[in-house]
Amino acid sequence: METISRTKIADLFKNKPFGTQVNVKGWVRTRRGNKQVGFIALNDGSTIKNMQIVIDLQKFDEELLKPITTGACINVNGLLVESQGKGQDAEIQAEEIEIYGTADPLTYPLQKKGHSMEFLREIAHLRPRTNTFGAVFRMRHHMAMAIHTFFHERGFYYFHTPIITASDCEGAGQMFQVTTMNLYDLKKDENGSIIYDNDFFGKQASLTVSGQLEAELAAMAMGAVYTFGPTFRAENSNTPRHLAEFWMIEPEVAFIEIAENMQLAEDFIKYCVRWALDNCKDDLQFLNDMFDKGLIERLQSVLKDEFVRLSYTEGVKILEDAVAKGHKFEFPIYWGADLASEHERYLVEEYFKRPVILTDYPKEIKSFYMKQNDDGKTVRAMDVLFPKIGEIIGGSQREENYDKLYTRAKEMGVPEKDIWWYLDTRRFGTAPHSGFGLGFERLLLFVTGMTNIRDVIPFPRTPKNAEF
Ligand code: 4AD
Ligand code: MG
Repeated sequence: METISRTKIADLFKNKPFGTQVNVKGWVRTRRGNKQVGFIALNDGSTIKNMQIVIDLQKFDEELLKPITTGACINVNGLLVESQGKGQDAEIQAEEIEIYGTADPLTYPLQKKGHSMEFLREIAHLRPRTNTFGAVFRMRHHMAMAIHTFFHERGFYYFHTPIITASDCEGAGQMFQVTTMNLYDLKKDENGSIIYDNDFFGKQASLTVSGQLEAELAAMAMGAVYTFGPTFRAENSNTPRHLAEFWMIEPEVAFIEIAENMQLAEDFIKYCVRWALDNCKDDLQFLNDMFDKGLIERLQSVLKDEFVRLSYTEGVKILEDAVAKGHKFEFPIYWGADLASEHERYLVEEYFKRPVILTDYPKEIKSFYMKQNDDGKTVRAMDVLFPKIGEIIGGSQREENYDKLYTRAKEMGVPEKDIWWYLDTRRFGTAPHSGFGLGFERLLLFVTGMTNIRDVIPFPRTPKNAEF
């Protein structure tokens, strides 16, 4: 074949250099045609749009064309022309075709017909080749860019916190252990407790549930930082909103209190949503048309409205009133209860009809590090609740007072030997500070309109599932 440098299909649709010889490489989505002319819909991942390859069958050997079936990978030289057919505005008249790899129609699982999302999860190694997952994973990339740009523009530093840790930030005991010990021959002391002295780290270590504690150390030196990395939770919740391995973004800022923290969260999410509307038009349109007719409208509506700010106590009143008027919830609601996703969604979707930031939760249901209010009952927590998702962000103002923090950690059973370094920030130059964590996949659920969190991460990790 003649050597022509490759152009991505997205660039050909954008720049439309009609009348020039171009080279494209990609995977065959469909092939159809008649005796005179063949049509291949070719996709190279750069855009949801396929490039139509037109083959004059008089110019090509039939035997060469036969193996070009759905899923095959080909290399094409040809002339880019304006398309006569409807549905696309450019096409390539093929002059040379090379087959890189065939895909046997009898065994290649992604044939033309629509597949269920459940089936596609079983072939997660191939699902990026579908329109849907191409769109979702391109949007995943764009949202990561939005996040870095947002913080960089505002002078935040991207700070890398460890993945292996010996402290449980959320204190919820949902950690995956990391060990090199021989599990068939564990050494135990006289009380039956495992002796970790000879383990790799010389103590019990786990995968992190959050980078917050380390991010706080950085905020107390660099002013404003954020983390963006994988976090792990061994919670046995098989729901459409929980993963055992998910990505979290955690900004942490010195000298701001809860009100500014809420504003930061609102500005941040809106920035990401606007970025999706501005940079992912084709993919969003596809997802809107195929899955969720209200998607683009919902994204636009979130930008329009100010998020509601409401205390937990007021929120519980609204929910209790709803129950009194006959609304049925699966889980009981009373002051002190942790809100279930149905409660959160009632407030957002039915009562206020826009995102809600709920604050000042009972201290019993929140973590040890949150700043205590003067009422002795609540802490300066803030959860951002979103339509269709429920909790998308969890955050708080942090307790900066050493004695209060020390006492609360003790009460909640967080061992001092695990967090002595964290407590030190309150001994040396403490300051008011706040932060929050955004679940990256929950944001992606919102911007893509997907309904199961397993479908917005390439290789989901959930109970009983770590394939690929
Ligand atoms: O509310 P969480 O547990 O808060 C923290 O981890 C704090 N350390 C954050 C901080 O203040 N820096 O988790 C934060 C967010 C949730 O609001 C949710 O979006 C997401 O992380 N999240 C999960 N996403 C997917 N699967 C799970 N199992 C998740 N658990 C939490
Ligand atoms: Mg939370």
